[in-house]
Amino acid sequence: MIIWITGLAGAGKTTIATAVYHEIKNIYPNTVFLDGDILREVLGVYGYSYDERYIQAEKIHNLCKMLDNQDINVVCATIGSFHRIQERNRASFNKYCEIYIEVTMENLIKRDKKGLYSRALIGETINVVGVDIKPEVPKNPELIVDNNTLDCLEHKVEDILNYLRDNQYIL
Ligand SMILES: Nc1ncnc2c1ncn2[C@@H]1O[C@H](COP(=O)(O)OP(=O)(O)O)[C@@H](O)[C@H]1O
Ligand SMILES: [Mg+2]
Repeated sequence: MIIWITGLAGAGKTTIATAVYHEIKNIYPNTVFLDGDILREVLGVYGYSYDERYIQAEKIHNLCKMLDNQDINVVCATIGSFHRIQERNRASFNKYCEIYIEVTMENLIKRDKKGLYSRALIGETINVVGVDIKPEVPKNPELIVDNNTLDCLEHKVEDILNYLRDNQYIL
């Protein structure tokens, strides 16, 4: 099973995916966590342009495919905001669960812990998804998690686990 958790920078992907991963790993030790930021180092894709982001998303897709073929479960957190990749995921993985971590642009700009959006809005930083790169929000995600308020992490994780249980992804 591949759990593909996506959303914009600062939405809460890493935080939510890490917690989900630990819960699933408790039940299924053959589970790995892939985080987009860490994978940049591993895969050697360092740039943030549209094309480099696409290459990175494709490599993550391929990595998930390789692991899926070996019956390894993957929890993956990535901006990976490309409809073509999402479609390929859906077509290729055994069991695929796409989860969109939803936060409005307005709230992301308010949070903006790393100053990413504020720099992008005045043109000091380019290649920011949601500002000068158009996000391709999943069209038919299995689940949308509203993370507009930075709270209730446990509830949000529990909602995801309940979905996975109710739909026979996990026991
Ligand atoms: N539900 C939540 N409750 C509390 N803090 C959260 C929650 N979601 C995200 N955060 C915090 O928001 C920040 C951004 O989250 P992060 O997971 O790094 O986002 P992303 O991986 O999407 O860029 C982090 O400091 C994280 O601790
Ligand atoms: Mg992250």
